[in-house]
Amino acid sequence: MPQNPSAEERMSQVVSLCKRRGFIFPSSEIYGGLKSTYDYGPLGVELKRNLCQEWWRSMVHARDDVVGMDAAILMHPEVWKSSGHLSGFCDPLVDCRTCKARFRADKAPQQPVGSPASWREGGKKSGASQRGVVGPQGILCPQCGSPDLSEERQFNLMLRTSLGSVDPLGALVAHVAANPGQAGPELRQALDALLRKEAVYLRPETAQAMFVQFANVQQSMAMKVPFGIAQIGKSFRNEITVEHFIFRSCEFEQMELEFFVEPGTQGEWLKYWCDQRLAWWRAYANVPENFRLRPHDAKELAHYADACFDIEYRYPWGYGELEGVASRTDYDLQQHARATGSKLSVFDPQRLNPETGKPGWRFTPYVIEPSAGATRGLLVYLLDAFCEEQVADGKGEASSRLVLKLHPRLAPIKAAVLPLVKKDGLPELAHKVMADFRRAGIRVQYDEQHAVGKRYRRHDEVGTPFCLTVDGQTRTDGTLTVRYRDSMRQERIAADQAVAVVARHLAAQPGTPAAG
Ligand code: GAP
Repeated sequence: MPQNPSAEERMSQVVSLCKRRGFIFPSSEIYGGLKSTYDYGPLGVELKRNLCQEWWRSMVHARDDVVGMDAAILMHPEVWKSSGHLSGFCDPLVDCRTCKARFRADKAPQQPVGSPASWREGGKKSGASQRGVVGPQGILCPQCGSPDLSEERQFNLMLRTSLGSVDPLGALVAHVAANPGQAGPELRQALDALLRKEAVYLRPETAQAMFVQFANVQQSMAMKVPFGIAQIGKSFRNEITVEHFIFRSCEFEQMELEFFVEPGTQGEWLKYWCDQRLAWWRAYANVPENFRLRPHDAKELAHYADACFDIEYRYPWGYGELEGVASRTDYDLQQHARATGSKLSVFDPQRLNPETGKPGWRFTPYVIEPSAGATRGLLVYLLDAFCEEQVADGKGEASSRLVLKLHPRLAPIKAAVLPLVKKDGLPELAHKVMADFRRAGIRVQYDEQHAVGKRYRRHDEVGTPFCLTVDGQTRTDGTLTVRYRDSMRQERIAADQAVAVVARHLAAQPGTPAAG
């Protein structure tokens, strides 16, 4: 049973708006869709690009100590051996023998070992009711509540493929023919080893390329520690459980920074990046209090981290991760240096070597990694912006309006240009305003369908912060009406000042009060 029906309802309203208004569509929908893959439609792609652009602006362009890169998704397979992903990037997988669901043991409902459990035969509502006790794993099937579960096994989340004209099946067929006596786990292990030989992987995080290219970036750009490398791009994980729309999917986008610091300074830099990142997310939000910082306890820490904080958001189903800010030590650089013999360290002639006390210190930098989900961030801002409110309509009667109160910098369309009627020269005047915006590089949309009130509501729903209405008065005195999305306030401004007015609002620092 949903804990909070109104929150559940809000989520389904956002999902429905995403499809109706061209933000997000299920992938390959006319073929029945594909598990947890999504396509970003005309407005979704603008929103995602705006979000990524804001991140890039603040993490790269606004700083002297960070440079960007854009790496290939496919990397040498040994990268994933050195990073620990081949052996350790696994989730505990369990099968339910009753309803055949496959799920993550660490996310399943827990109950004391030996306590009573009840479920329906076959996991179906019509099945006979059954009783039993919770097994040694202390968990139940999240779908049907059965305690009749398989042993837990480790499931690697990396998506495997092959590159070039290799035929992985050929090697398997040859092996089976040459080893007729092999069966069961022995055969499985042998075939898996053969597959691994030819395998390449879709990256499960963008981070590794920034470690592997550390020396190239540092030397080509003459960067001095502390400095960072930033990247935005797709990552892939064969998630056992995909959930909550685009919150957890198999293909998603990350915005990651690897910030290289002197050993011993990682604590202060971790605090710095936690503060920076939390403030960044809050600056674009209507309800900043819904974002919080949560420290990882020792049990949660990844094998490479000596400390980590999650920036969490209050989703309709409760608090959950939006970004991780990890102190990754020198683990990755050391691992790649060891595996390849490359020098992934820096030399500072001015610093005293802590061991010898003499000037000149070569060290492997420690890393602070703020790692955010771009697609998850997009969901967060849609949830934050979604609003249904009661307002008075043109006749003064109460009506409800759906509005996406997206920060103007994130809004897919910055302004809609609306001729009041489709005649009397108003479309021509409106197109002149459109041309001014296009010259200024500001995304605008022309809209002449339906009554103007209906057009306002349509743009409220997609988060357009400004509607510019061209009417009879525009012809006589050269003014138009600007209507502000959130307050619905209207004022007349000179049509040739419309770009400047909108640009001024867009230039305002995020975190300042909303326009209008
Ligand atoms: N390089 C570190 C790293 O990848 P992570 O916590 O696994 O750390 C970072 O991922 C962020 O990427 C998460 O906070 C989340 O926003 C996003 N993310 C991770 N898995 C995801 C998935 N399956 N679907 C959507 N976003 C995901």
